[in-house]
Amino acid sequence: MRKPIIAGNWKMYKTMDEAVSFMDALAGKLKDSDASETVICPPAPYLATLVEKSKGLPIQIGAQTMHENAEGAFTGEVSPAMLQSIGAKYVILGHSERRQYYNETDEAVNRKVKAAFEYNLTPIVCVGETLEQREANETSAIVSDQVKKAFAEIDEANAAKAVVAYEPIWAIGTGRTATAEDANEVCAKIRSVLTDLYSGPVAQSIRIQYGGSVKPANIEELLSMSDIDGALVGGASLDPESFAALAEAGA
Ligand code: G3H
Repeated sequence: MRKPIIAGNWKMYKTMDEAVSFMDALAGKLKDSDASETVICPPAPYLATLVEKSKGLPIQIGAQTMHENAEGAFTGEVSPAMLQSIGAKYVILGHSERRQYYNETDEAVNRKVKAAFEYNLTPIVCVGETLEQREANETSAIVSDQVKKAFAEIDEANAAKAVVAYEPIWAIGTGRTATAEDANEVCAKIRSVLTDLYSGPVAQSIRIQYGGSVKPANIEELLSMSDIDGALVGGASLDPESFAALAEAGA
């Protein structure tokens, strides 16, 4: 059985005070349950503080992106070694906003996935199609290609630990969610691509999240689908009440 994973991606929101208040407010609301995993991915300046605040709570902290190298003259970047050294456990890679605004290619995403495993970070690998691609019936081909390229040269032992997030770009921050059936169809396609790449048990163990306007009102239906094992949540992860409700739905 795959353990549901609910991850909040705060994107570029919140001050440090707001981030700390969020953690304090969330602390009493999360059930300590082995049935699911809860992850918060705050902006980089708050990562170390939130790792400290998360100690003793049923929550893990992840980064929203990272560089592929362990160190070097890359002004402004954060490395996988740095994330490991502060106790971060997850890293979102290939988010559509990174692909769109920072020219992150499939090849770069693949290099970052490899680096994440090297530093014991679990990658949340994002894939998804644009509205134009969906309307041209290209969703399956686009998403399959992104998955194959992200997992190139990743061995079975590491692949089994990865998380994939299917995020149709047209559903991100728009209030327009894919229907649970449509989202599940693409997640099942992703699993079939993983089945071509890896053994059946490994492909069956990889968790696939849906992301795009997930909120407390729609998460239960999404999680009830056969191939949706969690959610990557933007807007609705910013409020502790709403995020606690999402985490609860996963448990
Ligand atoms: O990483 C999260 C996604 O981009 C979804 O964002 O829940 O605000 O639509 P959203």
